[in-house]
Amino acid sequence: AGIITLDPGYKNTGSCESAITYLDGEKGILRYRGYAIEDLAEKADFLEVAYLLIFGELPNKTQLEKFHNDIKANSEVDEDVKKIVDSFPRTAHPMGVLSSLTSALTAFNPSCVDINSEEDMYQAIVKIMGKFPVLAAWTLRRRNAKPYDYGNASLGYVENMLYMMFKKPNEEYKLNPVVVEALDKLLILHADHEQNCSTSTVRIVGSSHAGLFASLSAGVSALWGPLHGGANQAVIEMLEGIKEDGGDTAKYMEKAKDKEDPFRLMGFGHRVYKNFDPRAKIIKKSADEVLGDLGVEDPVLSIAKGLEKQALEDDYFVKRKLYPNVDFYSGIIYRALGIPTEMFTVMFALGRLPGWIAQWREMRLKKEPIGRPRQVYVGENLRPFVEVEKR
Ligand code: CMC
Repeated sequence: AGIITLDPGYKNTGSCESAITYLDGEKGILRYRGYAIEDLAEKADFLEVAYLLIFGELPNKTQLEKFHNDIKANSEVDEDVKKIVDSFPRTAHPMGVLSSLTSALTAFNPSCVDINSEEDMYQAIVKIMGKFPVLAAWTLRRRNAKPYDYGNASLGYVENMLYMMFKKPNEEYKLNPVVVEALDKLLILHADHEQNCSTSTVRIVGSSHAGLFASLSAGVSALWGPLHGGANQAVIEMLEGIKEDGGDTAKYMEKAKDKEDPFRLMGFGHRVYKNFDPRAKIIKKSADEVLGDLGVEDPVLSIAKGLEKQALEDDYFVKRKLYPNVDFYSGIIYRALGIPTEMFTVMFALGRLPGWIAQWREMRLKKEPIGRPRQVYVGENLRPFVEVEKR
């Protein structure tokens, strides 16, 4: 007691025991509840993965149907929420809007704040699984000045996300199976990633028993930053910038290596992966397939591949073990699916939602103590107080 170990950024500090996600950063391995990410991305759908993460096992048909029905039955939000959405400037960043709306849900669902049983927990979980995609879709609809819509309850969870975002009034919305499959895969790949910045935020806010929705709202805010989930937007903006500047990738490689220059190669590097991010491998392959299937030609894809090739052969990146991460190619797919750049991090949040929930639930079920790191004080010693007139 009394001795405090400093670890800024918690680079080497474990905050909990967890049975949800296994990650080996040296070997580039990622598993949810023991299942390889490659298998889940290929064979499962997002709602199954959500159930797996939250409750620990893959659902059977009946369990999955019940989960989906409970989510659908709880997806409506209070009519007054529409007024809140309307009060945001149409140019507001969707992540700020989504975080505020998630927090506002607490006011409309007071029963979800004080969670005292597994049943309370379940009710809060199906409510947020239902309402969060509605809020995300309405955030986009506000930007596009489109009426708010609950979509079509006969559709699957991911299908309805697209429908709620893109259905135009008085027009049929035809779901493209290529788009649905691509989005489903991206959501699965983003669904959990152990104690990352936003997840640790959710756990630490939840550890004060602040309630699920308040904890998730804080998670959305943490995810927003460009060093975390906001990197997917930053990558596309960077690639666009390189394209407009004549496509000289070598110039930007030099900038990224220059310690005087704040520019970093966005979508590169990771706190834990010192090898290929297994998610980036799957997403890179999927980017080629999806763009091919949709007949989209995006010049930034070849710029991205060029950057990757140069970085993997460059001493600076090799020495520091910097590889492309999940955000490097995901934006290129989102863009091919018709999702606007400023919504990319919202898509990440939609995918991460079940992970945040699973981690929060685990933390509460294990009755973890309040999160409260210590510090080493380096400020002034005791000083005499001086009246304002005498300063
Ligand atoms: N470009 C250039 N240099 C880099 C980069 C980069 N993208 N990433 C790390 N470095 C350098 C860094 O300057 C440092 O060099 P030195 O040892 O000479 O000081 C070294 O590599 C180690 O980096 P760090 O910043 O100490 O590592 P960290 O674990 O604190 O940061 C990171 C991890 C992901 C924040 C960082 O790699 C980064 O800023 N990457 C770009 C943003 C990004 O793509 N974020 C998404 C992360 S993955 C998904 C997610 O979390 O949402």
